[in-house]
Amino acid sequence: MMALKDETFKDLRDFIYDTTGIYIPDTKKYFIENRLSKRLEEKKIGSYEDYFYLLKYNTDKTELKVLYDKITTNETFFFREVQQLEVLVQQLVPKIKEERKLQTMKLWSAACSTGEEPYTIAMMLMENPKTCSVKFEMLASDISDVVLERAQNASYGQYALRNIPEQYMKRYFKQSTATNYTLNNDVKAKVKFVQINLIDDKKVRGFREMDIILCRNVLIYFDKKAKLKAVTNLYESLRAGGYLFIGMAESLHDITRLFRPQIIGKTVVYQKA
Ligand SMILES: C[S@@+](CC[C@H](N)C(=O)[O-])C[C@H]1O[C@@H](n2cnc3c(N)ncnc32)[C@H](O)[C@@H]1O
Repeated sequence: MMALKDETFKDLRDFIYDTTGIYIPDTKKYFIENRLSKRLEEKKIGSYEDYFYLLKYNTDKTELKVLYDKITTNETFFFREVQQLEVLVQQLVPKIKEERKLQTMKLWSAACSTGEEPYTIAMMLMENPKTCSVKFEMLASDISDVVLERAQNASYGQYALRNIPEQYMKRYFKQSTATNYTLNNDVKAKVKFVQINLIDDKKVRGFREMDIILCRNVLIYFDKKAKLKAVTNLYESLRAGGYLFIGMAESLHDITRLFRPQIIGKTVVYQKA
């Protein structure tokens, strides 16, 4: 395997942090080697130093997109941390509908990976008698174009599908290959996918007046400063009184006091004051 000097590791690590918010500590040099060594071979790049220069100084941003794909962890599946989604569908959406008499509710899955999270919510909203008549716009975004393309294809294997209740499987999926199932077009049509980097202030704040934002299981890869940046951007994108969900094992406790935490059942939801 090609050698990664400590100094170059730090250059790459700092570059990744500055562009994505993802923080790789000194002890995780192997992380960069594991994720990037094959790519250097594929591209016939002779050293990590050359790769760093390519990323940093090339005006063509294609390699940057590949980097985003290589260094992100895209683990996700349908009905993940479903207790939160039940609170969203059964309580918050009907409450917002009642209070605001909205024509269209605006939801955003802000690190959606291959699409399982926004599609789960879309299906749950369509299935629930209290929400099936609610008109909603579902924006779904990720930093990686590769996962977004897979989200748009909406073809899933056993791992992604393992938690889906039978009734959803029957109603919303069709078997497309020996191992894969494809989501129906009526669910696919409910979700709009866009590439958005959460630490890109301008881009994130271009999306406004959201009623509910989900930013689950992504801030865990950031340090405190990047978490604050991403969460502040999302705060700006929410309407007053709107709600933010982060992952069940995550907390904003030592990050920001911008939000009012609300406890609903076993779920914490962060409300914009
Ligand atoms: C572990 S997945 C979580 C997916 C889904 N929210 C869930 O909880 O199952 C984290 C996702 O965050 C994305 N991500 C990482 N850094 C990001 C950034 N700066 N901006 C937007 N998305 C980012 C990754 O590409 C990845 O798809």
